[in-house]
Amino acid sequence: MGQTLTFLGLESSCDDTAAAVIRHTPGQTPQILANVVAGQTALHANFGGVVPEIAARAHAEKLDSCVQEALAEAGLALSALDGVAVTAGPGLIGGVMSGVMCAKGLAAGAGLPLIGVNHLAGHALTPRLTDQLEFPYLMLLVSGGHCQFLLVRGSDDFSRLGGTIDDAPGEAFDKTARLLGLAQPGGPSVEKEATAGEQNRFKFPRPLMNKPGCDMSFSGLKTAILRARDALVAEKGGITVQDRADICAGFQTAVRDVLVGKTERALTTYMAEDPSEPALAVAGGVAANMAIRGGLETLCKQRGVEFLAPPLRLCTDNAAMIAWAGIERYRDGQRDGMNLTARPRWPLDKAATPMLGSGKKGAKA
Ligand code: KG4
Ligand code: ZN
Repeated sequence: MGQTLTFLGLESSCDDTAAAVIRHTPGQTPQILANVVAGQTALHANFGGVVPEIAARAHAEKLDSCVQEALAEAGLALSALDGVAVTAGPGLIGGVMSGVMCAKGLAAGAGLPLIGVNHLAGHALTPRLTDQLEFPYLMLLVSGGHCQFLLVRGSDDFSRLGGTIDDAPGEAFDKTARLLGLAQPGGPSVEKEATAGEQNRFKFPRPLMNKPGCDMSFSGLKTAILRARDALVAEKGGITVQDRADICAGFQTAVRDVLVGKTERALTTYMAEDPSEPALAVAGGVAANMAIRGGLETLCKQRGVEFLAPPLRLCTDNAAMIAWAGIERYRDGQRDGMNLTARPRWPLDKAATPMLGSGKKGAKA
């Protein structure tokens, strides 16, 4: 039986400054003692995306107060911690550097171990924090910045089975909302509109569906939406509320079909490992979409696979997942020194070919 560990986690790789404290005793459910997230949505609202320089400055300004708030919420002094974990990449480099510098200062000042965590590993290990899921499991990360299938075998053992070769699905939702004059973030707006829509009126493409493997593409969908919208405008001089709902429903169904179809293939690869308790876990904002979630749940039921979706506040960017990944990596022997570097790109699967392109949240890993 290992020792009880209490870790502070820091996250600043995109547009959320976050600090959290996790305590874990082996064999017991981990405790989230604090989980503070300070978002920057308002700062970037006028720019149509995250502005890296603004994000970095805001992280530098906010990190200290987030740490203080998290420690106060946990009722702990820095000296009561066993380690400091920080996102060391991938992400927008200015923000990642701010976090790494802050963590180094705290670790050096209090004489604590420092653990650099891969942001994607944070997401991928979350089902172990929330549900004590056993390895190996299949993970689908699906958000505004990520979209990939990971076969998770250990705290540092990931195989990427496939991912998007261009936009992440959340970006496609956001762009669709923009094209139709709906509010940002686009996902919830499009989902709401789609409830009143006819999903079969517009036949949008299912890119790469007929290609083998688990890679996906979502950038062509927004061009299809643009064409459908412009055709309606040319024909009738504008689009009605019903047109908009139908486009949203058709788009959402296309994204669901691609994600479910590719998940089916990823499950086949995963099941070949003969897991004793097969499970698919999802993370990321798009996993909040009920149509997509429903499609994945049905597929899992058919395949005899458990479906897990951690609560949204732990699915989207947060520092609890970083503190938890730090504890897992610490138990597995990782230690970083003052030479820990911030990395804009950091693929989880060292053997996989690099992902193409760059999302709204910086380089894709
Ligand atoms: O995980 P997240 O909060 O941040 C990162 O991208 O890392 O995900 C945000 C993305 C946005 O693109 C948002 O439009 C999308 O998740 N999203 C949704 C829904 N809620 C949020 N997409 C589809 N349906 C939703 N209900
Ligand atoms: Zn993320």
